[in-house]
Amino acid sequence: MRLEKKVAIVTGACGGIGRAIVEKFIAEGARVLAVDLDEAATALLAAEYEGTVKGYAADITDYAQVEHMIEAAITHFGTLDVLINNAGIGSAKMLLDHDPVQDFDVITGVNQKGVYHGILAAGRKFKALGKPGVILNTSSIYGQMAAEMSFTYNVSKAAVDMMTKCAALELAPYNIRVAAVAPGRVDTPMLRQYEEMGLWEHIRREQMRNEFTQPAEIANVFAFLASAESNCINGTTVCAEDGFLNFKYPLLPQE
Ligand SMILES: NC(=O)c1ccc[n+]([C@@H]2O[C@H](COP(=O)([O-])OP(=O)(O)OC[C@H]3O[C@@H](n4cnc5c(N)ncnc54)[C@H](O)[C@@H]3O)[C@@H](O)[C@H]2O)c1
Repeated sequence: MRLEKKVAIVTGACGGIGRAIVEKFIAEGARVLAVDLDEAATALLAAEYEGTVKGYAADITDYAQVEHMIEAAITHFGTLDVLINNAGIGSAKMLLDHDPVQDFDVITGVNQKGVYHGILAAGRKFKALGKPGVILNTSSIYGQMAAEMSFTYNVSKAAVDMMTKCAALELAPYNIRVAAVAPGRVDTPMLRQYEEMGLWEHIRREQMRNEFTQPAEIANVFAFLASAESNCINGTTVCAEDGFLNFKYPLLPQE
């Protein structure tokens, strides 16, 4: 098993990708602090995997809560090896429809500042413990390309890619590795907003496999990146996007 005896924190653990990461990490031998906003939801998840998963409620937009989250993992499991900054929120609004007072801050508060909080708190803790650590961030292909209706989301994910690089550089002397995963379109509650907008079939046909990526497929990439098998991967964003960044939507009609 790849993650035997490892202890990991996964934020956004009750969402589509987060839950899949928790399940994959357990299958690979890890114990996990499953973090999300709703205490009851994290407790339900923990009850399914009693002994290996501990539920914990925290809002990653608040640095003090992120610090407490890290302490909670160490108190409960005795150590910490991996932090996965996975929690994120989407937005579906044209730029000119933005409310300038809140739209930018709400999205970047979670997707950008929340990840920054995780990197900072975990980096400090790994350094203080004097042990190697791995910090993984969930980015998106939209950190690397423009798209309509997601101005702030794309900006926040581009920031995740750059934070990954800068943090990897500064934390390398302490044996802390930092990397990110950029999923394409993954079938989770977040993606289902396109269903409500009547765009589900349209975006499915844009997929190279004609289907959406499954959360478990993204979780496999995280398990690899958290393990020693990927020790030479540092400071980079690994694309797990079904080829989306590398081809134009097919011109010819698809089945
Ligand atoms: N689904 C996709 O197609 C896709 C593609 C690329 C990247 N991503 C990224 O993957 C990550 C997970 O998304 P998902 O698709 O599983 O979405 P999801 O909505 O299913 O899960 C997100 C989880 O994050 C939690 N969360 C939100 N704000 C939080 C906060 N302030 N503090 C703690 N937890 C918070 C939510 O409660 C939810 O459980 C996000 O960072 C998202 O941007 C998703």
